[in-house]
Amino acid sequence: MAAKDFLSLADFNRQELNALIDRAIAGKKEWKSGGGGTCMTRKAMGLIFHKPSLRTRVSFEVAARQLGGSAIYLTDKEIGIGSREPVGDVGEVLSRYLDIIMIRTFDHKIAEDLAAHATVPVINGLTDLLHPCQVVADLQTIVEHREAIEGKVVAFFGDGNNMALSWINAAATLPFELRIAVPPGFEPDENFVKAALGRGGKVLVTHDAREAATGADVLYTDVWASMGQEDEKVERARQMAPYQVNGELAGLARPDYLFLHCLPAHRGEEVTADVIDGPHAAVFDEAENRLHAQKAIMEMLLD
Ligand code: CP
Ligand code: NVA
Repeated sequence: MAAKDFLSLADFNRQELNALIDRAIAGKKEWKSGGGGTCMTRKAMGLIFHKPSLRTRVSFEVAARQLGGSAIYLTDKEIGIGSREPVGDVGEVLSRYLDIIMIRTFDHKIAEDLAAHATVPVINGLTDLLHPCQVVADLQTIVEHREAIEGKVVAFFGDGNNMALSWINAAATLPFELRIAVPPGFEPDENFVKAALGRGGKVLVTHDAREAATGADVLYTDVWASMGQEDEKVERARQMAPYQVNGELAGLARPDYLFLHCLPAHRGEEVTADVIDGPHAAVFDEAENRLHAQKAIMEMLLD
């Protein structure tokens, strides 16, 4: 039984995650051949943003429309969660108008509190802790390009951030090996790693980028300073430089490696242009798949 909300991949079992990936792939084909789902007919979606976005905003707005409904973009100027109005009241009120809500915010607890008070499904469109929609799109991209995730080695480089933690949640549930290479002091929360290992997941955290890259099927990186960490940009760049995904590091991966990045990317920082603009990169398919993955998530929650 799927959860009411989509806040963390940890709330979903292997069968549910596989069903989401399969539905995202099938829904993409249906849409491109003139068909597609209608689960948003007579329904409205709210999109709450406390941080900037290109992909998440546009893909959710388009998803709501392609599924037959509408979407409303809301920033904190309108709502003032926690200042103008308590988050619980916001959840109660929005549930009287909307059929589904997405929130992108800083503190993960705000998304959890909103979901606890909302009677309609709430989707995490990125918090400081997790970015689960992105990983569903990433998994879809790997399956589309390399047939399966089973048995693959995914290597993540740079910061043990919201993307790294979402990947750890995926590795707790799905049968692939995850290696995370980060500088000392930037390791992902060890409770996530312990939980994944406890569920039989294969997760390695290392300070050695070469160890992570060797023989990997997928190389993945993300910005070194996430939204809200802009003041730390210079110091982070100094510490994370050895974890840059460049031609030399990629040379250690499998010859048919796939390069993924959630975007936005900073060429010359976490990845070099020859890799992200090279023949192994699938970053724009990955960005496109946000739309199809999120349509599958919305269908699952509204079912
Ligand atoms: N990858 C991603 O979530 O992009 P945006 O921040 O542009 O939404
Ligand atoms: N870690 C990044 C992901 C952006 C999609 C951030 O939180 O800014």
